[in-house]
Amino acid sequence: MNDLSALPDGFVWGAATAAYQVEGSVDADGRAPSIWDTFSHTPGKVAGGDTGDTACDHYRRWPEDLGLMKRLGLDAYRFSVAWPRVVPQADGRVNAAGLAFYDRLVDALLEAGITPFPTLYHWDLPQAQQDRGGWPERSTAERFGEYAAVVAERLGDRVTHWATLNEPLCSAWIGHLDGDMAPGLTDLTAAVRASFHLHLGHGLAVQALRAHVPGAQIGIVNNLSTVQPGSDRPADLAAAVRADGHINRWWLDPVLGRGYPQDMVDVYGVELPVRDGDMELISAPLDWLGLNYYFRQIVADDPTGPAPYFRQLPGPGPEHTAMPWEVHAPGIEELLLRLTKEYNAPKLYVTENGAAYPDTVAPDGSVHDPERTAYLERHLAACASAAAQGAPLAGYFAWSLLDNFEWAYGYDKRFGLIRVDYETQQRTVKTSGHRYAELIRRHRAR
Ligand code: IFM
Repeated sequence: MNDLSALPDGFVWGAATAAYQVEGSVDADGRAPSIWDTFSHTPGKVAGGDTGDTACDHYRRWPEDLGLMKRLGLDAYRFSVAWPRVVPQADGRVNAAGLAFYDRLVDALLEAGITPFPTLYHWDLPQAQQDRGGWPERSTAERFGEYAAVVAERLGDRVTHWATLNEPLCSAWIGHLDGDMAPGLTDLTAAVRASFHLHLGHGLAVQALRAHVPGAQIGIVNNLSTVQPGSDRPADLAAAVRADGHINRWWLDPVLGRGYPQDMVDVYGVELPVRDGDMELISAPLDWLGLNYYFRQIVADDPTGPAPYFRQLPGPGPEHTAMPWEVHAPGIEELLLRLTKEYNAPKLYVTENGAAYPDTVAPDGSVHDPERTAYLERHLAACASAAAQGAPLAGYFAWSLLDNFEWAYGYDKRFGLIRVDYETQQRTVKTSGHRYAELIRRHRAR
């Protein structure tokens, strides 16, 4: 297969999960509800009425999952810390029992030689903060900075690699504009304000991490897409520029010191609630950028739609995952090179990449997933190609370690390298997981 030799020595081989998608135990040890508990328990919001109540039971079964990480030969585990476990209510009280869970996890990971890569926010805003207005309000960013300080203070003596936010695009645009994720709003003003306060929260979290973690390696994780117009009609060309602004530039430019893209400020027509000093905070230097890559976007003008007036067309390629997202590996290479050349990324991690397929279990209990295996190989080859062209790519995290709660799609969409039988909680390493382990071994031994 493909040549991964351009991936540098010390390349970090990892896998990722997120708290609400895997942990379960939603009432345990003082955890309070998050917006995702509320959303998933609202009839009609999640396919099959699924919720994260039990998920993969990772909160209790993490020692077994750690054993599986060791079996795969992972260097690093990217997980998220659940804000509603650590500071469950709006009063700021720290829940020692919730924090202790991550303390135990971090100790065990380190003992196993696996580097912890926590993300402070992967969409599970405490419902108590939502009740005070959520991300459209400045106070949520301030509370996030305080929560970040609590986690940094507790884990910062052992954890070096930190991500502030996971995919703020989804929190703001899908949660507040499209309404398909928690909190389920369809309000452009709320969405734009949420995007700004997510960035402000990121800046405050960076400040807290720098204060509490000497030598911290801090980044932010964005889901980006390459964007192409669906035709060469001028209206579609202009729609592609707007789509690039909405999906990519809005999320990169302010954090990297360029301010919000003026063309998009004009398109949204919503005043950003910026105060003196905010943009400096938001653009404080980072050590790395995280790229989550799944698919490219082919777009057409949609003058009738809400701002930013474009719609996504089906990807023309022959292969699609179960989502159904088009499989397009060159996109990951293109994005890594764009982050390198246009944004001068100091260091890059692919913090998520993976595919959902309707896996079947063979009579002998094995799970043979050739499509996911090919997806992994092709995307890794594209990463190696970007590295060969100068992208400072330091690691790759497969999404996901385990099949898990795929948000509004429920448990039906399986992204794991490891199958989870939700009836028995039995784990089975899929062919793709075995292949990933082999690639890791080979790369290390070269
Ligand atoms: O499952 C999600 C994850 O939580 C964030 N990135 C995309 C994944 C697949 O949809």
